[in-house]
Order: sequence, then structure tokens, then C-alpha cells
Amino acid sequence: MEIIDAVQRRRDSGSEVFSLCAGEPGGGAPTDVRERAAALLTASEPLGYTSSLGLPALRRAIAGHYGRWYDLDVDPERVAITTGSSGAFVLAFLAAFEHGDRVALARPGYPAYRNILRALGCEVVEIACGPDERYQPTPALLDAAVAEHGPLAGLVLASPANPTGTMVDADELEALSGWCADNGTHLVSDEIYHGVTAGTREQACAWSFGDDATIVSSFSKYWGMTGWRLGWALLPEGLVGAVDALAGNLALCPPTLAQHAAIAAFTERSYAEADAAAAVYREHRRLLLDRLPTLGWGMTAPADGAFYLYADVTERIRAAGEPDSAAWCRRLLAETGVALTPGADFDAVDGTHWARLSYAADSAVLREALDRLAGWRV
Ligand SMILES: Cc1ncc(COP(=O)(O)O)c(C=O)c1O
Repeated sequence: MEIIDAVQRRRDSGSEVFSLCAGEPGGGAPTDVRERAAALLTASEPLGYTSSLGLPALRRAIAGHYGRWYDLDVDPERVAITTGSSGAFVLAFLAAFEHGDRVALARPGYPAYRNILRALGCEVVEIACGPDERYQPTPALLDAAVAEHGPLAGLVLASPANPTGTMVDADELEALSGWCADNGTHLVSDEIYHGVTAGTREQACAWSFGDDATIVSSFSKYWGMTGWRLGWALLPEGLVGAVDALAGNLALCPPTLAQHAAIAAFTERSYAEADAAAAVYREHRRLLLDRLPTLGWGMTAPADGAFYLYADVTERIRAAGEPDSAAWCRRLLAETGVALTPGADFDAVDGTHWARLSYAADSAVLREALDRLAGWRV
């Protein structure tokens, strides 16, 4: 957030910015979604509250999406529409876990999981995941975590992950899902970057291996609808009632205009537009990997999906005489206009010498930023 504020200050002062820090697609919602929203606004539709789990037509459309992508037969009654996947995490964690429950997650990882769980009084067990396990938890690491901390009530898994972009393959997901079933651990699978993958790993839904997991997903990334604030969860049968009650009390319902419009995210034209955006990210990834040797960075996580490259920038930090990647990123922005995200939020232990680059930016911005990164030697 500090870097984002600095980016804004630079923009306000008229200075150039080449921002590779936002985890946000630039293209916006599919045409059919925007057209449906525009039509709704000019019609006499009152856009009042919906039921707390969302519009039945949208819940049916999401269930159908699982048939299309994963050949899964999902009961729409098990779909809860939420305010972004962020809303789904709060609801799922509240429904599934008790105060004091131990919940594991990968480090580095998306900081909101840890922050929400801690705010709810859960004990967060961070599993240090490195290159040997593709920055993802494994059954062996989970066994070690149980031996050290005791039984785990939950595991939060993200594939593709933020900030690393790494994925677990279908057989790895099956093994993790089996481990959770054997150990009484509730699996929460964050699948919000599905559809945004490089094709290096097989994309699988955790419900392919048992519907007792909670799946969390979103319109934010593949469909480029971040600001529409709409996501969803697929819930185990036993959690539907609790999530319904919590959702009604916490927010009454997810945003109604966005819900109506999102039904149009599942048209053929919308899928085609979202696939075209994903193809651009793949080109950006290729460009970035080609240019990587010119940047002088160290180890990088294998960028399987999402639109992130997570890199060890220890050498560049040392050469610049800065104490950590946060200071290095601030200086990089001040001297070149290129904004990256320092790693400390994702990993409080090792992230201080890592940085995340988001290649969801516009192609021209990405090219110019890479030129500037390659040319910046301090
Ligand atoms: C891994 C991951 N999960 C969840 C989210 C939350 O997204 P949203 O609330 O827009 O669905 C993000 C946002 O960047 C993310 O990177």
C-alpha cells in the first residue's frame, strides 16, 4: 500500500510511472457484462437486496461453469455469491473454524488469509515453502507442521498463488486433498486465478477430489472485474446454512447490480474475451522470461499462472546499498518510475529480499519498465 501511495503521488505530480505493482488486470469487464450493467441502470429494475447467498440465476450460471471447465456437476444450492473472494474468505473462515483453531498456509503467500484468520482468533501456522516444493505446501511439510504444532483444523491453499504464481498439479492437489481428509483438516482452495495460467501445469479444481473442501473463486482476475466486487464459494453441505446466516448478517447480500451483470460473464463472447486477455498475459510472461537475464535478479519462482513473477533481488539490494526490498523498491520508483511490490507483506521472514512484479500491466508499460529495470544500475 505504501508503494501504491507513492505511485499515486508521482502520478499527481505529473511524473512518469510504469507500475508493475498492482495485481489487477487492466482490460476491464467483458463487453456483455458492461452492456448488461448499462441496460440495467437505464431500466426500471429496482436493484434491491437479493437473497444473502445471491441471485439464483447467477448461482446456476456459476454451477454450470464448473461443468464447462472441470466436468463437475455442482448443485447451485452449494454456491454462495460473495463480495469478491475477499468476502468469501471471511465467511468461510468464520463458518469453518473456531477461535483458537490452527490453520496452515504457505509462506510466501497472500497476506489477507493470515490477517483475516488472526483477526478471527485462529492460530496461523506458516509453512515455509521454497523452490524444492515449488513454493507450495506438500503432505510431507504438513506432516512436519503437525509434528511441530499439533493437529491442523484447516489448510488454505492457492493455486496459482500470489505472489509466486506457482501451481500445484492435479495429482499434487489430489494428494493434498487426501492428506486433509485423512487428518480432519478443512481444505480451503483459493482458485481465483484459474483461467490465467501459462499452460505449464494442469489446472484442477479441489472438488474433483471431494466436495468437503471449500472452493473460493472470483470474477476479479480471469474476467478482469476487480472493482465489481464479486466472488463466490462452493461450500461443503454442512457449511451452507452457517454461511447463509453469516452473509445475511454481515452484508445482507453481495452487490446486486454486479450480480445481475455477472450472469453475462458466462456467455461465449465473455469467455472468448477473457481467454484473449489470458493469452496477452502469456505473451507478457514470455517477454519477461526472455528479458530476465538482463535484470541481474537472482532466483525466481516458476511463474505457472496468475500474472506474477516473484524474484530474489538480494544482489540488486546489496549493489544499491539499501537495507531491504522495501527501501530498494522505493528507490527504484524514485529513480526510474518503475513500481514493484516488496516481498515483506507476503513473507515476513524472507520477503525482505524478494520483490513481486505483476505483468498484468499494459504491454507498452511492461516493455518500457523492463528497459528501465535493465538499465538501472546503482
Ligand atoms: C490469491 C488471492 N486471493 C484473493 C484475492 C482477493 O481478490 P478479490 O476479493 O478481488 O476476489 C486476491 C487479490 O489479489 C489474491 O491475489
